[in-house]
Formats: sequence, C-alpha cells, structure tokens
Amino acid sequence: MSVFTRLPLVPGDPILGMTDKFNADPDPRKANLGVGVYLGEDGKVPLMAAVAAVEKDIPALGAAHPYLPMSGSPDLTKAIQELVFGANSEALQAGRVASLQTLAGTGALRIGAGLLALTSADATVMMSDPTWENHESIFGRAGFKLGHYRYYNPELRGIDFAGLLEDLGNAASGSIVLLHACCHNPTGYDLTPAQWDEVVTICVARELVPFLDMAYQGFSVGIREDAAGIEKFANSGLPFLVANSFSKTFGLYGERVGGISYVTTDADEAERVMSQAKMVVRSIYSNPPTYGAKIVSTILATPELKALWEQELYGYRDRIKAMRSALRSGLEAAGVPGDFSYITSQAGMFSYSGLDVEQMQRLRSQFHVYGLDSGRMCMAGLNTRNIDWVVGAIASVIEG
Ligand code: LMR
Repeated sequence: MSVFTRLPLVPGDPILGMTDKFNADPDPRKANLGVGVYLGEDGKVPLMAAVAAVEKDIPALGAAHPYLPMSGSPDLTKAIQELVFGANSEALQAGRVASLQTLAGTGALRIGAGLLALTSADATVMMSDPTWENHESIFGRAGFKLGHYRYYNPELRGIDFAGLLEDLGNAASGSIVLLHACCHNPTGYDLTPAQWDEVVTICVARELVPFLDMAYQGFSVGIREDAAGIEKFANSGLPFLVANSFSKTFGLYGERVGGISYVTTDADEAERVMSQAKMVVRSIYSNPPTYGAKIVSTILATPELKALWEQELYGYRDRIKAMRSALRSGLEAAGVPGDFSYITSQAGMFSYSGLDVEQMQRLRSQFHVYGLDSGRMCMAGLNTRNIDWVVGAIASVIEG
C-alpha cells in the first residue's frame, strides 16, 4: 500500500497529448493541426526576426542570474499594460491596474484564480460552451465550481448570442465570467464590438467578475482591435482581470512569458491587490524567469523592433487566412458536399470543423492528420506542401 495506490490513471491532456501522438508518428505525410502553435510554411515553429535581433545582445553564458521581483520585470509589466489596455488608457493613468509577469497564459490564469480564491471562493466560474479544455482544469483545480454559458450553436455555425446573454443574465451576482478576448479557442467565433458592449452592460448590471483571456492578440484583426473587449471593460469601471500570453504572439512557447492584470477601482485597491497577488506568486513559484521577459520588454520598448515584430505577427495572421482560403476552396473544388464558408469566417488559429470524433480519429489513423477530437483544427499547421493532402483527407472522411 503506497500513498499513490488509489491514484487512477488519467487519459492525459487532449491537446498536448495530441502533440505526443503526432511526434510519435513516423509517416512523412503527417500534418499537425492539433496544438495551437504557429507553424511556418516549412511546418516548423519560426524564430521571429525581432526576437533573433534581441537575442544577439543577451549573453547566454557568463552572466549572473539574479531573482526578478515576485511581480516580474517592471519593464515587462509596463509593456504588458500598454499592449493590453492601450498606452492612453484611463485605467492605467489612474494607476488602477496591477500587472504581474506570469508563466505565460496558463500561469496568468492560475495566478488570477489564486487571487479570486481569496475574494470569491464560493463563486462559480462561468465559461463559454465550449472553451479551451485547460480552462476547466485550471479553475477546477483551483477549487471553483464550474458552469457554462451558451456560446457556439452548431446549427447557426456561429454564436448563440441570445443564449449567452440569457445565461449571463441569470448568473448569480459575483460569478466569475471567463471570456476569450479574441480568436475564440476552440471555435474561432468572436464577439463583435456591439456584442461586447452588451456583454459589458450585463456584467455591470449583474455585478459579475469578468476574466478575459487573451492568448492571440493580433491574430484576428489587429493588436488594438483584438483588445476591443478589454478596452470596453476598462472604460466601464467594473473591476476585472486579464490574462495575456506572449507564447503565440512572439513565438516564445518554451520561455513561458505572459501577464496577469487586475483592473481595480482605484490606485489604493490596486496596491492591495498587488500585495496579495505577489503572495500568490510567492507560494507557487516565488518569481518568474528572466530570459523571455527581457526579449519581449526590449522589443516592445524599441520602436524599430516593435515595428518589425508587428509586421511579422501580421504576416502570420495573413498566412493563416491564406491557408483558410486554400482549405475552403480545395474542399469546394473537390465537390465535397457542404457549406465551407465557415472556414474563412472564423478568426485566429482555429477552425471548429464540425467533424465528429470518429471522423477526427479517421483523419489521424488513416491520413496522419492530427486535429482534436472536438473537431478543432489549427489552421496554422497548414502549408502549401500539406494542403492538398489535408483537403483530400477531410474530403474522404466527410464523404465516408
Ligand atoms: C491550444 O489550445 O492548443 C494552445 O493554447 C496550447 C495549449 O497549451 O493548449
């Protein structure tokens, strides 16, 4: 009898586990449409030119390794605030935003949850149905009750906005509402600016606690446009949280760089929130690592590098859009029955294909095309070399 005897085997993470399966597949025709990682035309994670330029000047060996503060690099948190809220944000000028560097987006969500556990331990975390699988894990393991609001309607092939409003309208005051700021994961359907206005109004009226997750800023329309919902919440005066990640936007997946921002009522509240959030960090990992923070903060503080980064990020966005068009036109040209316009109307990295588990499994077993069992496919894994193969594979599983 061991302390671990009663621990059951779990099936593993549906997203990162798919990467393991993809890596283990020796077939040269394989395509990785599983994890949300931007792959270039060569099927590899690219090194951004702005990142490479900064790395030349960061000594890899022979430099000391001091601690960062618990809240992370001040240069990074300043950059986070300007990127997420806009440099002219009233909330920033009023000093009512407390931001900390975190271990990317997942770490930001976890540190946000850690603070909410102090203020709102009995609250339900309402998530979109469906949402990123890890949202359930993060908030469930942090001890919250989990609930859902209606989001995707497969018949409409879009957002059930009336259902969303009704569910938020019925949420208990103080409920935490997890929202995807842009590039909804997994569906690719985002709220319009007018819909954001309605969501803000209902959150204010019901005294809900919005928590916005922004992992793909710039992958839909543009850096400021993709933060429209965040800016609207900031202008509303309602306290809320934002988790942001630099994994996808800077190609710094393994460096774990991101931020949590608590938008509070005033500077005094922000100071108290910061003091508590630092203790949450202290009890989990003490302080964040330096390397990725240095890269991101240097790029965002240097106008030429920032311009180079933006240009490359928008190049990523446009390549994904081109791949969406190629997939749609490929399926249409092959005469596959169905309306494939959804592929080009969704935003960001993901396409929610509507294929069922059996079809997704067939894509893997017969064609070595790896998407998620939910039907989610990462469009950034397509390139001009694998597109015909993927079109043929999807056509085969749709046509039976
Ligand atoms: C995804 O949804 O595939 C990405 O956000 C990567 C991850 O950590 O799940």
